[in-house]
Amino acid sequence: MSGTDKLWGGRFTGSADADFAEYNNSFRFDRRLFAADIRASVAHCNGLFHAGVLTRLEAEKIKNGLATIFKRADFDKNYFDDPSEDVHSFIESKLVQLIGDTGRKLHTGRSRNDQVATAFRLWLRENVAELSRLAREVQRALVDLAAAHRDAVLPGYTHLQRAQPVLWAHWCLAYFEMIARDRERFDEVWRRINVMPLGSAALAGTSYEVDRESVANELGFDGISANSLDAVGDRDFAIDFTGAASILMMHLSRLAEDLIVYSTNEFGFIELGDAISTGSSLMPQKKNPDALELIRGKAARVFGHNLALLTLMKGLPLAYNKDMQEDKEAVFDTVDTVSGTLRVSAIVLRNIGINADRSREAAMKGYLNATELADYLVAKGVPFRTAHDTVGRAVLGGIEIGKELHEMSIAELREFSTEIVDDVREALSLESTLGSKNQIGGTSPERVAEALDAARGDLDREVR
Ligand code: ARG
Repeated sequence: MSGTDKLWGGRFTGSADADFAEYNNSFRFDRRLFAADIRASVAHCNGLFHAGVLTRLEAEKIKNGLATIFKRADFDKNYFDDPSEDVHSFIESKLVQLIGDTGRKLHTGRSRNDQVATAFRLWLRENVAELSRLAREVQRALVDLAAAHRDAVLPGYTHLQRAQPVLWAHWCLAYFEMIARDRERFDEVWRRINVMPLGSAALAGTSYEVDRESVANELGFDGISANSLDAVGDRDFAIDFTGAASILMMHLSRLAEDLIVYSTNEFGFIELGDAISTGSSLMPQKKNPDALELIRGKAARVFGHNLALLTLMKGLPLAYNKDMQEDKEAVFDTVDTVSGTLRVSAIVLRNIGINADRSREAAMKGYLNATELADYLVAKGVPFRTAHDTVGRAVLGGIEIGKELHEMSIAELREFSTEIVDDVREALSLESTLGSKNQIGGTSPERVAEALDAARGDLDREVR
């Protein structure tokens, strides 16, 4: 392509070095903004018409041309095999090829700087909404898993040491809550994305009397940017997005880690379905949690993109700098990675078997009801600190004779406190251990059933 074929060819006599042109061009990846850029161009064209810059006939010609280009891209597989610099110059050159000189009027009053910021926001707006829908499907899978195993119990952990028993459903709903917050963050990000930069032109604003509000309205933006330098010079909406995506990926990574641990022979709480596992090329007995490991691993790339964008922007003088072209791949890959991860997460949750006997057994081994015994003594009037100490010694005694607290006889327990009588049996049972956690947010079956209903209600309300 010679210098004069470019959007900016007039000032140049020589053409770009081929390697540099290759390095400079973003069309191989920013073609993903094609539909968004066409849409924004149509709205801009309408704005120019209403401002009296284009005649009705010119505006119609341009819009028909843009529609033709859009359709063409749909059926012509090789349409995008083009040496264009970026998606904006691609569309404009196709338009001029198609309708001639009128096509050269479309760029009046805009710059690629406000154009790219606008198309990128349009594109991301849609994709953030789609990611939120995919995240909802993970929430639904968690709710279904919880509902299918209402009575299942597993040891709850702190420091990865058995701590207190919890319901499986309580574990599921913990991740439900995390993802609910992740989706709130996406909503928030969506609102900040949904502000239109168009009309900021290169950096100073446009000198044409385009009604920005009505262009924004046509494009479904909630508002227009208040400062042209800011609108073309910042990418914080992209960083908001990769930031929110990072937190979501961190949550999914922890979910994956829990399930990897639970699927080991050592734990044996869950069985991974064949649909989500792989074998070993060497060891015939292996069933590996690759899906879960990839969910955990892919969090790293998204964190990387978030940090890349922060680093990209931190030293840039106002307003637009070409460095900012590097924002696209980070955001595109974040969308692709999060989308794939959410889809696979939902599939995983629908393809695990719960070994409830095994996890219940684990929940009853390791003195997980020690706190119950302390609470029992507190109910008899013993100060908590004293009770804690007493039970600590009882646990030590139990370890010595190889018995859990609930396996020790009343006489054995009374060696540590004469407050202990027959009713301790009931207090130390798994049912009472769980049932006593009956405040909102606790793991009692009653509370968890309520939380499960509320969670399902939230999901159903959303799709109605
Ligand atoms: N491809 C460019 C980008 O993604 C479009 C804006 C180019 N503007 C410019 N003045 N060079 O940032």
